[in-house]
Amino acid sequence: MELRFSTWQEVEHYLNSSKAIVIPIGSTEQHGPNGLIGTDALCPEALALKLGEETGALIAPTISVGMAQHHLAFAGSVTLRPSTLMLVICDIVNSLVQHGFNRFYFLNGHGGNVATLNAAFSEIYAQSSLNTQTKESPGVRCTYRNWWEADSVMALSKELFGEADGSHATCGEVSLTQYAYPHSIKKAEMDPPIAPTGPIYDAADYRQRFPDGRIGSNPSLANPEAGKALFDTALRGIIADYEAFASS
Ligand code: NI
Repeated sequence: MELRFSTWQEVEHYLNSSKAIVIPIGSTEQHGPNGLIGTDALCPEALALKLGEETGALIAPTISVGMAQHHLAFAGSVTLRPSTLMLVICDIVNSLVQHGFNRFYFLNGHGGNVATLNAAFSEIYAQSSLNTQTKESPGVRCTYRNWWEADSVMALSKELFGEADGSHATCGEVSLTQYAYPHSIKKAEMDPPIAPTGPIYDAADYRQRFPDGRIGSNPSLANPEAGKALFDTALRGIIADYEAFASS
């Protein structure tokens, strides 16, 4: 069930049986020569929509812009400051708390969002803990899951791509978008085939270290069949994880 295609009465009805909601969160940033700028939002969104179909979970609109300051030296990348993204996350959660939601499952597509997600969750809990007006707690719990991080998904990526999977513009994420959006498959030469690796600082430094945007990957190996295998494996883990969290 998608929030954007629901009426308010349907949401009220949903709340009679569940207080949980899934919020896909990603980024709008370069993903190398053949990766889509929307990759990190498209991947968790596609998985969340399938999760919603299979479990009946309510899926919120995707937070498509994340914390991507290090990608800003590449055309088309967009970032929120960590402080802005924290406010966005807190405002969305607090809005939904007004209606009775108390389990917030963020399905994340971008490693750069993790620190900010954790900080935003601490902020949300602090609001509750510091509220001395009432002893009643709304009992809000927030969690996030990185779609690529389950052991089964990591093992499959390794089996499919080995070291060439890399850590940004990975074979796995490019494959997943190729499976979910076959009309947007791009072809490009990778030079060198495996991209360099190294630390991440600011945008100018990133562009110098990683000239075509990739880190450690060779996404010319990406293909939609691998994307389907990763999608199905990730989905199974996410469904189990979501259901345990929603009923916690
Ligand atoms: Ni990515």
